[in-house]
Amino acid sequence: MKRVLSIACLLFCVALTLSVSAQTPPATAGAPTAGMKITTDAEYATHMKEIQQANGMLNKSIKAGDAAEAQKAAARLEVLFKNVHTYWADKKIADATTASQNIVTSLQAVQKALAANDMAAAETARASIGANCMSCHTAHREKLPEGGFRIK
Ligand code: HEC
Repeated sequence: MKRVLSIACLLFCVALTLSVSAQTPPATAGAPTAGMKITTDAEYATHMKEIQQANGMLNKSIKAGDAAEAQKAAARLEVLFKNVHTYWADKKIADATTASQNIVTSLQAVQKALAANDMAAAETARASIGANCMSCHTAHREKLPEGGFRIK
C-alpha cells in the first residue's frame, strides 16, 4: 500500500512538473520583436546575430532569384535594424544612427524592387548595405581578447 502511494505521488509530481514547465515562458525572451527597445548588451548581440543570419539569407536568395524568400529576409532585417536605429538614436551617437538609417533605407528599396520583380535593382540596393555594417563596426565594435565582441 505504501509503495502504491509513493508511486502515485511520484507520478503526480512528474505530471505537476510537466504542466508547470509547459506554462513557464522560456527564461530568455526569444526573438526580437518589432519596436522592441534594446536595453541590454545581450539584447543588442541577439539582434546582431540574427542580422548576420538574415543578411546571408537575403544575399543568397537575391542571387538565386528567389524573390519570396528575399522579401522575408528583407522585411525581418528592417524590423531588426529599426530597433538598432532607435538604440543609437536614443544614445545620440550620430554616425551609428546614420549607418543604421542608411541600412533601413536600403532595405526598403530592396523590398520595393522585389515587389516589382526587379532582381537587378534589388541586388544594387542590397549591395549598398555592407559598407554601413563596416563603418559602424569600425567605429563601435570592439573585439574582445577572449573572443566575441562588445559595444564601444
Ligand atoms: C549602427 C551600428 C551597427 C551596424 C549598422 C551594424 N552593426 Fe553589427 N555590431 C555592432 C556592434 C556595436 C557590435 C558589437 C556588440 C555585439 O557583438 O553585440 C556588433 C556585432 C556584430 C556581430 C557579432 C555578434 C556577436 O556578438 O557575436 C555580427 C555578426 C554583426 N554585428 C553583423 C552585422 C551585419 C551583417 C551588419 C550589416 C548588415 C551589421 N552588423 C550592422 C554595430 C553595428
